[in-house]
Amino acid sequence: MAIIQSNDCLIPLIYKMSVNFTGEVLPGQFFMLRAWDKDPLLSRPISVHDYKAGKLTFLYQVVGKGTGILSRLKSGDAVEIQGPYGNGFPEVSRDLCVVGGGIGIAPLYYLVKKYKEKNPLGNCRVYLGFRENSYGVEAFKSIANEVIIDIGGIITHHVKVKPNEVVMTCGPEMLMASVAKAVPLENQVYVSMETHMACGIGACLGCTCETKSGNRKVCKDGPVFLREEVFYV
Ligand code: FES
Repeated sequence: MAIIQSNDCLIPLIYKMSVNFTGEVLPGQFFMLRAWDKDPLLSRPISVHDYKAGKLTFLYQVVGKGTGILSRLKSGDAVEIQGPYGNGFPEVSRDLCVVGGGIGIAPLYYLVKKYKEKNPLGNCRVYLGFRENSYGVEAFKSIANEVIIDIGGIITHHVKVKPNEVVMTCGPEMLMASVAKAVPLENQVYVSMETHMACGIGACLGCTCETKSGNRKVCKDGPVFLREEVFYV
């Protein structure tokens, strides 16, 4: 059980929750959260938005009963967290280009933060796309070299990638597919897949995704894959 430090609504349906936690956490990993007994049946996979010793932060969208319950929790309440799970984004030392859409921006903040900690002289450009309202942008601006925002349009239309950059993306599958297609094959591109999950630890096959090398489990083999594994570029 973790104790909630804060759980704030940023804009309607988008919440940021911090809980107490200490351990090793990699960018792109996720936790399974629950704060109910039997209904809904499954815990909810929520990606790590930020972490420093003693404080683990999630940015999440209310999409159903489980996330609705999470959104009503208050500081001091207990929440069950299991994890961290998943492989996470790889560590890179080349310049980084990050593309996020909607709530898919959630894992990218911790990714950029860790990248800049390890590569203070490395360049990190961030593209963030939102449907109606933006959120969490100021935090990215405080750590990235450049942040490009699009609200209501198509963020991938803005994306320009330089030859030496590694690209990492998270968001709706259409966005990631279009990044996978548009970025030259010379650039490494990593995508963070999202699916329904039941166990989060590779035991139920509930999150299988088709890849070039056969069916893989998003929760255990992913959620981060090389683009050519899942998008057949
Ligand atoms: Fe059970 Fe991935 S959620 S195998």
